[in-house]
Amino acid sequence: MSNFDTVDFFTDPSLIEDPYPYFEYLRSKGPVVREPHHGAVAVLGYEEAVAIYRDHETFSSCNSVIGPFHGMPLQSAGDDIGELIENYRSRLPMNEHMVTMDAPGHTRHRALLMRLITPRRLRENEAFMWRLADRQLDEFVGRGQCEFIGDYAQPFAVQVIADLLGVPEEDHRLFRVRLGLNAPPGSVIQGEEERFSNLNSLAFLDGWFTSYIEDRRREPRHDALTELALARFPDGSTPEVVDVVRTATFLFAAGQETTARLLAAALKYLAEQPELQRMLHDNRGLIPNFIDETLRIESPVKSDCRLARRTTRIGGVEVPAGTTVVILNGAANRDPRRFECPAEFRIDRPNANEHIAFGRGAHACPGGPLARAEAKVSLERILDRMREIRLSEAAHGPHGARRFEYAPTYVLRGLTSLHLEFTPVENR
Ligand code: HEM
Repeated sequence: MSNFDTVDFFTDPSLIEDPYPYFEYLRSKGPVVREPHHGAVAVLGYEEAVAIYRDHETFSSCNSVIGPFHGMPLQSAGDDIGELIENYRSRLPMNEHMVTMDAPGHTRHRALLMRLITPRRLRENEAFMWRLADRQLDEFVGRGQCEFIGDYAQPFAVQVIADLLGVPEEDHRLFRVRLGLNAPPGSVIQGEEERFSNLNSLAFLDGWFTSYIEDRRREPRHDALTELALARFPDGSTPEVVDVVRTATFLFAAGQETTARLLAAALKYLAEQPELQRMLHDNRGLIPNFIDETLRIESPVKSDCRLARRTTRIGGVEVPAGTTVVILNGAANRDPRRFECPAEFRIDRPNANEHIAFGRGAHACPGGPLARAEAKVSLERILDRMREIRLSEAAHGPHGARRFEYAPTYVLRGLTSLHLEFTPVENR
């Protein structure tokens, strides 16, 4: 316990497997705690986290992804670094993506995105999810075992976003291959793969969307890609092609890993608790709260950063301008002042959906409804088609001595693999 004093949250691999004891150690010092290694401030309290997410004036999102590693020259910066941030912004990693933008640029790009994720598009996308879930399960259910993330969660999440953006279904398998995801042998049309083989995966996405946006601007059709191509900024101006392309491709970065990790966490809980499996199987109405409780207790984005633009105070702690504030979603969602017995997984927790796994405020995740729908559709079909789901002891060890590996990052909380065994259902 005592060596937590020397642990560096941002770099220490010992926190990856189970960060929660460390979070509780920090919480024992208060809801907002000074972090000694990078001069950051860690936020563990729920109320404090929500207040920071909502205060866009005081807290910039410019370092939301890179936290304290922004490299800005902050020495003798004074009590207001607003101008410094704006001068430095174009040098910050990910500055071209909305998650690091502040108003007014963020407001324009966010509005553009919200024109793409319309209620009609989401309805069509959900209809696609039902077909996709079965198609994906068909690839492995007969085997009675799977590596759930590679066989289901990642290909499912990436194809849902591809469909949301209007990528024709016949190109989905090509997407899987180019993004390095499992695709059944021979599933990609000969020649198609070569078309993009000289590009890395993100360049592939940029190239692919650029050509489609340009094509639809030249020749509009009745399809989602045309809506994407013709969407305007709120002031009526037409975005550059590159703005539309970035908005589209960022959805793959933001929505794929996160949702895949949520699905994996949900299946891990199910596999470890046969009683939970039976309850959900018999009462599908419990699925939405089960998903929110999973998001609360294993928040896929375990931390999110802000930069204090001005000197301020949070939870009684002085925060000088230029301080990195690390909002520990994974800890705030276990704040005992908000959630009773927070370390317990309770499927009937009345306020499970108050979690901040999707953030809050102007940057709150626009993909939240989509991620919840993906999890619901997946669980419905998995419970229909797989019985007696259990962890593979060969891969994860016996009950009481399980082994799991998690992604080595301070941002995400997610299993890297989940090996399951189950009994396939014949008549579905
Ligand atoms: C379980 C799944 C997901 C989780 C836990 C999650 C979590 C989050 C969080 C915490 C933020 C806030 C970042 C900040 O305030 O700095 C965020 C932003 C964002 N998410 Fe998600 N997300 C998920 C799924 C998705 C999906 C499916 C999509 C889209 C298809 C998506 C698209 C985005 C975008 C575009 C942003 C940036 C919004 C902005 O800056 O205004 N996310 N997400």
